[in-house]
Amino acid sequence: MTQTLTLRRPDDWHLHLRDGAMLQGVLPETARHFARAIIMPNLVPPVVTGAQAAAYRDRILAALPEGMAFEPLMTLYLTEGTDPADVAAAHASGLVKAVKLYPAGATTNSHGGVRDLAKVTPVLEKMAEIGLPLCLHGEVTTPEVDIFDREAVFIDTVLDPLRRRIPELRVVMEHITTEEGVAYARAGGDRLGATITTHHLIINRNHILVGGIKPHYYCLPVAKREKHRLALRQAATSGEGRFFLGTDSAPHVDALKEHACGCAGCFTATNTMQLLAHVFEEEGALDRLEAFASLNGPRFYGLPANESTITLTKGAPAQWPAKIFTEAGPVTVFDPGFPVHWHVEG
Ligand code: DOR
Ligand code: ZN
Repeated sequence: MTQTLTLRRPDDWHLHLRDGAMLQGVLPETARHFARAIIMPNLVPPVVTGAQAAAYRDRILAALPEGMAFEPLMTLYLTEGTDPADVAAAHASGLVKAVKLYPAGATTNSHGGVRDLAKVTPVLEKMAEIGLPLCLHGEVTTPEVDIFDREAVFIDTVLDPLRRRIPELRVVMEHITTEEGVAYARAGGDRLGATITTHHLIINRNHILVGGIKPHYYCLPVAKREKHRLALRQAATSGEGRFFLGTDSAPHVDALKEHACGCAGCFTATNTMQLLAHVFEEEGALDRLEAFASLNGPRFYGLPANESTITLTKGAPAQWPAKIFTEAGPVTVFDPGFPVHWHVEG
């Protein structure tokens, strides 16, 4: 018997598209299933000003193949030199939907990020005033803090004090990976949201390390122990409005993943919807997939849900390419390590 599920078209509330040949190669993978995405600004150099975001948006739209529809929702990369007036103007024009805070040194291309939060207080206060969300890479970078504890320590020492100082600020805890992250998001009220990636619903740290190191499972924040994966599954499938999909699909060419100092990032744009259908079915929550992938995100961002739909069907084992061949080099598609039977029609 064929099982069918029709949803409003999903959006991706955290996506890396890069630029140039990589952008060209990976954009169709997202645009095939998703109507919109929040586009991460960690290019080299980063997208800091409204003018840079406008130019990047034009490059994304120029890379979109004929016949595909996709709306990039732009973000600005917060630096200690960011001008609150430029941020406000980029928001007022409708161009920019969020500002991204990377603690300096936390992840890929984050060296220009924020070292001293006090220096960006005027920007954050302006954002609170105009209702522009702050997207947070929630990890401390202090060398003494164990990498598996960096999210929980960030919540206690950075996020909670920040939200007490500027309670009007809308904040998205991005790619949460711990039960502490789930609990903090739940207790946070209407101005706090949290995205969850596809891969953190599927892998724990054993998948990365047991039986040989798996560079294509390495991302930041790094996957944690099993109890955290289970807490994330429970949150994502709960239907609660504060949790929504942000894939953090982050392409790196294979040569830089399979390397002595491999880059962080899982590339899930191609198969996220198939994998989510599998996960939600396992959790007995297929009826809540639409909330997670298509409804909760737009509601948090104050945007309408998409009118168009996609249909998922369950049948023969699903197939997707093992790699996407871009002009920048091959990019390995996330392999869940189990058979998936869900397909996206059309
Ligand atoms: O795994 C990750 N990859 N995490 C990030 O925070 C950044 C991203 C990237 O840009 O490659
Ligand atoms: Zn990211």
